[in-house]
Amino acid sequence: MIYFDHNATTPVDERVVDAMLPYLHDLYGNPSSLYRLGRMARSAIDSAREQVAALIDAPASQILFTSGGTEANALALASAQGKRLWISAIEHPAVVENALRQSGRYAGINSLPVEPSGLVAEQALRQFDLGAGDFISLMLANNETGAIQDVAGWVDRLKGRGVIMHTDAVQALGKIPVSFKQLGVQLMSLSSHKIYGPKGCGALVHDAGFSVQPMQWGGDQEQGLRAGTENVPAIVGFGKAAELARLEIEQRTHHIQRLRIRLEQQLKTITDLVIFAEQAQRLPNTVQFGIPGVNGQMLLMQLDRRNIAVSSGSACAAGSEQISPVLAAMGVDAALAKSAIRISLGQGNNQNEIDQFVDVLKTLLAGN
Ligand SMILES: Cc1ncc(COP(=O)(O)O)c(C=O)c1O
Repeated sequence: MIYFDHNATTPVDERVVDAMLPYLHDLYGNPSSLYRLGRMARSAIDSAREQVAALIDAPASQILFTSGGTEANALALASAQGKRLWISAIEHPAVVENALRQSGRYAGINSLPVEPSGLVAEQALRQFDLGAGDFISLMLANNETGAIQDVAGWVDRLKGRGVIMHTDAVQALGKIPVSFKQLGVQLMSLSSHKIYGPKGCGALVHDAGFSVQPMQWGGDQEQGLRAGTENVPAIVGFGKAAELARLEIEQRTHHIQRLRIRLEQQLKTITDLVIFAEQAQRLPNTVQFGIPGVNGQMLLMQLDRRNIAVSSGSACAAGSEQISPVLAAMGVDAALAKSAIRISLGQGNNQNEIDQFVDVLKTLLAGN
């Protein structure tokens, strides 16, 4: 199979599996237990926290492990209680749905508009009088188009105004360098399964001076901010995946970027094909495109029958007549948006697969 959907999830790296296995077998202790088996589990969590911290340039003490990116986003938004919440028009459902379904907790929810480039409109900064009492959630990289927002620039321009900034860095992590310090945000969400780690694990990173509001209570795990017995094997796996991403980021970026350049060169030979957010700086592994007159869902299924796994990019568009809210926010014509296909490359892909995919795509488009 040709797997081109690494923004959905990645295969677990064998080295990550090896690191996790002892914690699924003999080292099953509860990290809160005081005897040796428990202390070993605690120590494994501490090491994983250091590994994640090293990848994102943040103190380990500011990392809270969660059940994934979705919970990290929910936990971040729980700290927006009583504030005016601003979310960009292209946020992941893990932000949008958490905001909308708990709208009563905030002093209003507002959308930050996005330009056709896929980037949040700069004018929003001037247009709205943002200050203390405002909480912004602006993703670092978009899961569909791969567009990278200038989060550090936004933090810089809002400096001194008392605005709280959260960034969902789930898609950026492991694909581009992500430094919590350099971004300057108060809160950042991460997920393990996008960086060749196990599913069901992630983290919320918080600024030292920022007081995170818990969503659930029980034991005093994770500084009392995220109660519940820790998923030790998954946390160990996330830590190992983070360590590998840090050590290999240059070669990984180079590999996927080289493949994407080759892919885009070939895609551009297809008449009228449009690459979304092409003008924006994008993740090196992601290309989302549309072809006028094509049904994206049907194309996706035809590719699946040829053992090629791609995505339309938008979970909520799958199997429905709805178009991607991300593309809609960018002002993409509805018919073109319905033709969207997203390719997200990963470390296991090679040039052969790119060439094979484009051949199959061209054959399908020619109706053969
Ligand atoms: C941008 C973004 N945020 C959050 C999530 C949710 O992360 P998880 O699957 O770990 O809950 C995803 C997953 O697709 C994502 O792409």
